[in-house]
Amino acid sequence: MSNATEIAKEQLSATGGLEVTDSRTGRQYAMPVTDGAVRAMDFRQVKTSDQDFGLLSYDPAFLNTAACRSTITFIDGEKGILRYRGYPIEQLADRASFLEVAWLLRNGELPSQQQYDRWVHDITFHTYVHENIKNFLQGFRYDAHPMSMLCSTVAALSSFYPNAKDIHDPEQRDLSIIRLLAKLPTLAAFIYRHGKGMPFVYPDNNLSYVENFLSMVARMAEPRYESKPVFTRATEVLFILHADHEQNCSTTAVRTVGSAHADPFSAVAAGIAALYGPLHGGANEAVLRMIQQIGSVKNVPAFIEGVKSGKEGQRLMGFGHRVYKSYDPRARIVKQLADDVFKEVGMDKDLEIALELERIALKDDYFVSRKLYPNVDFYTGLIYRSMKFPTDFFTVLFAVARTAGWLAQWEEMLLDKEQKIARPRQLYVGHDERPYVSTLKTRTK
Ligand code: CMC
Repeated sequence: MSNATEIAKEQLSATGGLEVTDSRTGRQYAMPVTDGAVRAMDFRQVKTSDQDFGLLSYDPAFLNTAACRSTITFIDGEKGILRYRGYPIEQLADRASFLEVAWLLRNGELPSQQQYDRWVHDITFHTYVHENIKNFLQGFRYDAHPMSMLCSTVAALSSFYPNAKDIHDPEQRDLSIIRLLAKLPTLAAFIYRHGKGMPFVYPDNNLSYVENFLSMVARMAEPRYESKPVFTRATEVLFILHADHEQNCSTTAVRTVGSAHADPFSAVAAGIAALYGPLHGGANEAVLRMIQQIGSVKNVPAFIEGVKSGKEGQRLMGFGHRVYKSYDPRARIVKQLADDVFKEVGMDKDLEIALELERIALKDDYFVSRKLYPNVDFYTGLIYRSMKFPTDFFTVLFAVARTAGWLAQWEEMLLDKEQKIARPRQLYVGHDERPYVSTLKTRTK
């Protein structure tokens, strides 16, 4: 037995863990278990010969791999629990403001009054963007997808703040985080106005974060825009619900790009690109498109049958989650929020279709046996649509909120001494070496 293994054995008696026998060699290995995990690097000592690289763990799509230690967000997918820094999502959605949650995610504790006032002040006073950003946006076609515009505009912001590259300077990090949180709503609103061909509305520093955003989106000739209180409340709650969700696809993209020490504007742009996908943040848009495709309540049973038979690879969008296998706690809050909004603005055909889809799916064995329940996106789109946001804009709203989580996760990754540039291994299963023999007759050099 090697020295390393003996040391590990000693550790094992203190911490507990796995004693593994490799049936290929008969060798035994000790692998400590800490926080419910073995270290993948412990497998590297498992070799069949000195030339052997060592055992790898193979985990496509990271189904069973923890890539970091985090203190930000806790999810228990079996029990349907979501907490930010230990605080239940239900309590935060009910009582906190989005900026308070953004502070909490980043700093780990709720802010004092003084900290909160300073935070809100700083974010409020960084909401303006360089005038060149307006010209940059004008370069997009009128029908460019808002997520394409957001992704490239956030990436472009990096060129306006070259000092943001100084990611090891806490002051620069602070400034970048404030700038990103402050400017995302401005960019989102400008993108909305560009799509409508309307003049941009500049930020109003006398309004709250959410009210200012809604004002930049909807204000016309009135001196001061006042949104319906139910819409302000719905936006605040949806922003809180979307603020973080631990190591999802976009957060992993942000951490991965950030691990190469790219500036945070570039890392967040990568997160936006990932969020754009219909299996991730694009799902709320996909839900509405699906509902519009169904067209009427009477078509719901046939649509469900189509999903079950795997027809055209159609899924029931807004259902299922990689982590939640009982229910998505955010979906429950969103459903209540949708009830409040629709009480005020009235119910429509699409909501009736959504309710019927949910009713049938929740008692159908196909969905029940696969633990497929409505996720946060099932009702989010309906709320946003009742606020007159265009369907292709929904994911932008998600991105504005998720920026709070991405930045908290990015900074946690940077300050984590165990982290290095993210670089997974592969199992090469392609050709062995072979000679180059071309069949081309002509070739341009
Ligand atoms: N409709 C129909 N069947 C489904 C669905 C669905 N929405 N989701 C999963 N399944 C089936 C899937 O076909 C598979 O069946 P089988 O075992 O017979 O092959 C089984 O359920 C397991 O599916 P999976 O693809 O292994 O599950 P996953 O954990 O990899 O996927 C998911 C999670 C969210 C990508 C998936 O449920 C999905 O595509 N849902 C629809 C898109 C959606 O609503 N996404 C928003 C997620 S919440 C917001 C966010 O956090 O980004």
